[in-house]
Amino acid sequence: MRLIKLLYIVTLNNCYFGSAGQSWKKLSIEKIIENLDFSPKVITFEDLDTLSLNKDDILVYTSSENPEVRQFIKNRLYYIKDKCKLIPSYELLMAHEDKGFQEVMKQEKSFGNLKGNYIFDIDNHKISYPKVLKTAQGAGSSGVFLVKNNNDVKKIKSKFFNQDIKRKLIKLQRKIKLNEQEYQIYSYKYKKFNLFVEQDFIQALECDYKVLVFGNRYYVLKRNVRKNDFRASGSGNFEFIEPPIDVLEFAKEVAHTLNNPYLSLDIAQSAKGCHLIEFQATNFGPYTLLNVPFRFVDSNGTWNKEENCKDLESNYAYSLNFFLGKKNVS
Ligand SMILES: Nc1ncnc2c1ncn2[C@@H]1O[C@H](COP(=O)(O)OP(=O)(O)OP(=O)(O)O)[C@@H](O)[C@H]1O
Ligand SMILES: [Mg+2]
Repeated sequence: MRLIKLLYIVTLNNCYFGSAGQSWKKLSIEKIIENLDFSPKVITFEDLDTLSLNKDDILVYTSSENPEVRQFIKNRLYYIKDKCKLIPSYELLMAHEDKGFQEVMKQEKSFGNLKGNYIFDIDNHKISYPKVLKTAQGAGSSGVFLVKNNNDVKKIKSKFFNQDIKRKLIKLQRKIKLNEQEYQIYSYKYKKFNLFVEQDFIQALECDYKVLVFGNRYYVLKRNVRKNDFRASGSGNFEFIEPPIDVLEFAKEVAHTLNNPYLSLDIAQSAKGCHLIEFQATNFGPYTLLNVPFRFVDSNGTWNKEENCKDLESNYAYSLNFFLGKKNVS
């Protein structure tokens, strides 16, 4: 039994470790390592078979924006999660690009201050108005809808829960051939389902806050809502501001619950406090870190304003150093 913990960084085969923003860029692992207090071994997911892991070993791994690759990583790490420490944790991998699992996680761990539900059958779900409905996957506000009445729900049903014409025709044939009970079973089996989340609508927001957390460093971008729209993400209407302390404190509380070196949080502030709209613990967009002039650093409960060096890799290294500490990691 080794006494020393080993640290691995797991990349895709092309050394990809996300995300550096534009799809033609990647984080430089060499540069992250230069700034680390540890000497990790860089491997790929294919190398995992050859490792003999100890419980205290640490795998810092990338996820992927590509759904197939992400599914591969989830399957690949399923048993490995019990053999060592994963960063991000397996549940944070499940939450990556999946608003449905984020709702499950928020309910289980009671955080976020925003009521929501995960649904696949919109007919089985009584919606009170107003609500926000979202496809479980999607970014830049695509797939995010405000529903205020039955008509709005109808529109979503016809766009996302509508069977294709071929299936409708087969169904018609089955209706003639099958008895009532068989037809009910058959219809449900081939019903058009879709993965959605439903959230309470936070009324009259003028903006939300994108908060990137790297260790105890918080980078905040104010995103104003679009004209005649309730959505801020994707508006491109950004402001560099001094964030409200309540937003920083709320982000800190969420970061404590999620327990990852780095995070991206979408936070809204209303008269009822702050609300967590969405979160990612891997492969999130770095725009905020690369552009805001200042960061806010939590130093034992006080917030210090510092100039932002706008360097992505050194922040990844900083956050890993902060998270892992120096104890026995080789
Ligand atoms: N429950 C809600 N109440 C009010 N406004 C909301 C709610 N959920 C989302 N919004 C608004 O819609 C925008 C997009 O929502 P969300 O962040 O869930 O989707 P997204 O398309 O994944 O965005 P991103 O590009 O940030 O990943 C938010 O920036 C916010 O302005
Ligand atoms: Mg968002």
